Amino acid sequence: MDHIKSYVLRAGRISAAQRRSYETLFPRYGLALGPALALPRVFGNDHPVIAEIGFGMGSATVLMAEENPGINYLGIEVHRPGIGRLLWEIERRRVSNIRVIEHDAVEALERMIPDASLDGLHIFFPDPWPKKRHRKRRLLARPVTDLLAQKLRPGAYLYTVTDWEDYAQSALRELAQTPLLQNAYPGFAQTQSWRPRTKFEQRGIAEARPIRELFFIRGGSSPAGHTPASP
Ligand SMILES: C[S@@+](CC[C@H](N)C(=O)[O-])C[C@H]1O[C@@H](n2cnc3c(N)ncnc32)[C@H](O)[C@@H]1O
Repeated sequence: MDHIKSYVLRAGRISAAQRRSYETLFPRYGLALGPALALPRVFGNDHPVIAEIGFGMGSATVLMAEENPGINYLGIEVHRPGIGRLLWEIERRRVSNIRVIEHDAVEALERMIPDASLDGLHIFFPDPWPKKRHRKRRLLARPVTDLLAQKLRPGAYLYTVTDWEDYAQSALRELAQTPLLQNAYPGFAQTQSWRPRTKFEQRGIAEARPIRELFFIRGGSSPAGHTPASP
């Protein structure tokens, strides 16, 4: 898929600890861009797999993985300091159910993730690209949403949260127009109590932006992993 990248890689600061974790732990928990993965072989079991696009520093990822040892988490991120940080937490907390891909998620999903293999997809606080001329960079727009849906098993879910109202509205429209997906709620979703809060959420709240949640299901049977909160 030819696509405009939803991120800009900045030559950012990486702390000595993040670099050390990245260098020593990526060989153990990281996956290089390559051909389609056999997910049960990657994780050493056939538990449900939930992918997270843009985990940032991985603070939500590691908490969910720790709380749900029967679910595998596949984090996809391009920001190396965040990858180093997550790897450090994986080691510190002795979490065994997280693997990390360091690459653009659109390409990684296309090339490495078999169709209908994921039980869930998390996208928490995607880069909002609020300026009009940058909106084409937003991740949650077709045809990328078609690709995301294609990677979900029937009954699996896509869960996203944003504090940018305009992005929330456009993502709601784009997801509603994605043929494989059905909204689990009449519009925006109820807050899913199992989702850990990240600093992006705290910032949104501090700046009085409403937090919008969207929870869509790929048509089919009932989902594995985290289920939508009932009203
Ligand atoms: C605003 S941050 C949110 C981080 C985290 N989810 C949180 O809530 O704290 C968005 C993250 O998505 C990552 N990102 C954006 N587009 C991506 C892509 N196509 N593939 C992988 N990561 C991406 C960025 O590098 C950034 O770390």
